[in-house]
Amino acid sequence: MNDNPTLTRRSFIRTAAASSVALSWLSASRAPRGFAAEAAKPALLGGTPVHGGGWVRWPQWREAWEPELLKVWRSGHWFRGSAEHVADFERGYAKLLGAKRCLATASGTTALIVSLRVLDVDAGDEVIVSPYTFIASYNAILTSKALPVFADTDPVTLTVDPNSIESRITERTRAIMPVHIFGMPCEMDPINAIARKHKLAVIEDACQAWLAEYKGRKCGTVGDLGCFSFQESKHIPSGEGGAITGMSDELIDKCDSFHNCGRACGTNQGSGSFTRGDNYRMTQAQAVILMQQFDKLVQETEIRRANADYLSSNLGKIPGITPVRLPENSRAVWHLYPFRYDAARFNGLSRDKFAKAMAAEGVPCGGVYHEQYYDGLLDEAIASRGFKRLWGAERLKAYRDSFQELKGNKQVCETTVALTQNMLLGDRRSIDDIIEAIGKVQAHSAALAKA
Ligand SMILES: Cc1ncc(COP(=O)(O)O)c(C=O)c1O
Repeated sequence: MNDNPTLTRRSFIRTAAASSVALSWLSASRAPRGFAAEAAKPALLGGTPVHGGGWVRWPQWREAWEPELLKVWRSGHWFRGSAEHVADFERGYAKLLGAKRCLATASGTTALIVSLRVLDVDAGDEVIVSPYTFIASYNAILTSKALPVFADTDPVTLTVDPNSIESRITERTRAIMPVHIFGMPCEMDPINAIARKHKLAVIEDACQAWLAEYKGRKCGTVGDLGCFSFQESKHIPSGEGGAITGMSDELIDKCDSFHNCGRACGTNQGSGSFTRGDNYRMTQAQAVILMQQFDKLVQETEIRRANADYLSSNLGKIPGITPVRLPENSRAVWHLYPFRYDAARFNGLSRDKFAKAMAAEGVPCGGVYHEQYYDGLLDEAIASRGFKRLWGAERLKAYRDSFQELKGNKQVCETTVALTQNMLLGDRRSIDDIIEAIGKVQAHSAALAKA
């Protein structure tokens, strides 16, 4: 086992101990396939890759969807106002989620922008948001000329730590935007309680969380408004597209007006003429593609869940791998399947090297978000004429300094590894390959770390 003559005794014992745990676990889990772990060299060091079969391709197209789509193109009724498909989609998506209403939008980002506007986030306001998210969550707030104020990230769940929210509230705070990252529900009860106490709105960024559930309710129906994305990589894609869901006619009517150039809608008649608004409408063709995927989404969600549960129960046994914990009575949908990676328990094999070794085994994976608040986007915003006008220099400096005090996020950014959702649609054998590849890399981590 001591394949590296330069290893110290202590590191050898550590290596051997970790390897023997991984190997005994491996041989137990893959005994039927006769895997001889000791003999199997890592692919990166000249061995045979564990997985040679490729992965389910994404997005997927079905010929059966073509006739309905062709009808739309041939009809010439393409824009939202000239046919009923978008409205049909909205009714169908609301029903799927148990929401009272749904409004289709051009994208997830525009769904967030409309929701912020309708929930009265105005220039100079502040919105508390999870830092561990796709950049669109930050940008939707900045586009609204508001300040994204970051709360801590819980390293166990990867979502916002509700206990860190209240201390971030100032007299300018208007809303909280929990992000159900990777389709894993945030702990919504305490978030809603804080929002009620301080009269704040809750906008769920559910852009990765179609059909995820928190205590029996679908994500996107637990806060005031929920926002979804149907961009190409998503579980229900239409190239681009988005939706807002909610339980209030009044709010969704306001969203409808704002996304439709400010035209009056339902309960939102204003003075009968235009209100402030933009054009964030979905097209008929997008709606038709989406509606045809409802059943597929439901079926595939169950497959991803079953495979993710299987992964979690097995990966947790590998030293240095920690699956994520979900809030009680909640169900994730796994847009990515994340786990925490502890390089120290992989003999110092860095996360990047781990990912390279895994790719060589035919199992691509890697880190996801980094500390994006240091990327310059926020510096550019707070140095801008508009932001300087809206906030005093002191507040902006304190805001910038506060990034250093964020808890959990750096750790989560640096130690999370994720697999993509399409991999969770593979058969059980390919999911076993993922487990085997990680076990193999663990078993040979000392050699890989030196390579
Ligand atoms: C968490 C999150 N929020 C917002 C968005 C924005 O959605 P879109 O790309 O449809 O604008 C995305 C898209 O990936 C996302 O993952």
